[in-house]
Amino acid sequence: MTFLWGTATAAYQIEGAVAEDGRGPSIWDTFSHEPGKTRDGHTGDIACDHYHRWPEDVELMAAAGLNAYRFSIAWPRIQPTGTGPANVKGLDFYDRLVDGLCAKGIAPAATLFHWDLPQALEDGGGWMNRDVSEQFADYAAIVVERLGDRVQQWITLNEPVIHMIFGYALGMHAPGRALMLDALPVAHHQLLGHGLAVQALRAGGAAQVLITNNCTPVWPASDSAEDQAAADAYDTLHNRLFNDPVLLGTYPDLTAFGVEPHFIRDGDLKAISAPLDGFGLNYYTPTRVTGPNADSVMPFELADITGYPKTEFGWPVVPDGLRELLVSLKSRYGTALPPVYITENGCSYAAIDDQFRIDYLDAHFKAVETAQSEGVDVRGYFIWSLLDNFEWAEGYHQRFGLIHVDFDTQTRTPRSSYHWLRTHLSPAGG
Ligand code: FCB
Repeated sequence: MTFLWGTATAAYQIEGAVAEDGRGPSIWDTFSHEPGKTRDGHTGDIACDHYHRWPEDVELMAAAGLNAYRFSIAWPRIQPTGTGPANVKGLDFYDRLVDGLCAKGIAPAATLFHWDLPQALEDGGGWMNRDVSEQFADYAAIVVERLGDRVQQWITLNEPVIHMIFGYALGMHAPGRALMLDALPVAHHQLLGHGLAVQALRAGGAAQVLITNNCTPVWPASDSAEDQAAADAYDTLHNRLFNDPVLLGTYPDLTAFGVEPHFIRDGDLKAISAPLDGFGLNYYTPTRVTGPNADSVMPFELADITGYPKTEFGWPVVPDGLRELLVSLKSRYGTALPPVYITENGCSYAAIDDQFRIDYLDAHFKAVETAQSEGVDVRGYFIWSLLDNFEWAEGYHQRFGLIHVDFDTQTRTPRSSYHWLRTHLSPAGG
């Protein structure tokens, strides 16, 4: 089986063309245009102008020797208000992109939801509203009908944990709600949306269906019982809350958080745990935690990780964390864990001559090889990201691309890491 080597992107972060061909507004359009929500007021209005420049971008992928590409579909291009008939021009765009990829031998991996909910659905409560789960499945059915003959992998959701925590619990991302633990239904409704979308995708003849979860190794700051319990609580919230229902059909014990998951109905977990063809894993860095203090609102506090290099985003570089995570997923879920695809990993580093990124990627590739030798079935690796892009609340200030983008001219300049990757993928230069 050919190992998939790709890059990953997301619609709102690269496409621009926010008012073109009938696209409706998403929560990120609204949020980024609200003063003070993103650094320097940056928005995705133009982003990388990928909506128009995608042929050049596909060309760059092909020239690097990549054989897969993970992108996301903007729900508000397909259904401008989140429900109702398909906007054909929106589908046409992804149809052209998918054809362009296939023509270059690049396998399309399409994510259905990478955080850009149609604003009209947010106006009805967003993912706090259970109806959105079914609406999501309706949208999935529309898309698979048009693209299902060529898309090799379907990824239902991107990082439901980050969307819940940053978007609904803390308000640092769209839709900007700060509900703290009251945001918990957002976990369940996204997961239910995943389960119902799996059914719709299967009915539409989808080749492979996955979910992408962001997972982190959780390190207690010490051996103390308090720190261990805190690590356990954080692991439950960040990892198990999203992995257990999908892979085991159960929710972890949430008593440390003092909440009862009253929003779960009969049959939900059965839908959520429908078998998958792969598990998408996004890994960036471990999380270190200590026990709560007198002012803590959660049963843990986050602590700094020292002694490792840091990316320009300030995230510690811990390649062995990826091996640790893969091995722990395998030991926790055993045969319930389908083949794993690293659907995101990468670093923020701006220089064109980015030896830092080369070292970062090289070390993370090796960590995957080690995990494979320890028995974990990993079948693909998507680097975040192809291009510098709109990094959510950070705007254009964090540059994750293998390719530098000049946002004034839209000029693409491959970084040293891009050239290194090309040699890594085709050592003989073929
Ligand atoms: C992930 C997101 C992705 C990107 C990277 C840096 O959490 O899925 O869109 O922002 O982080």
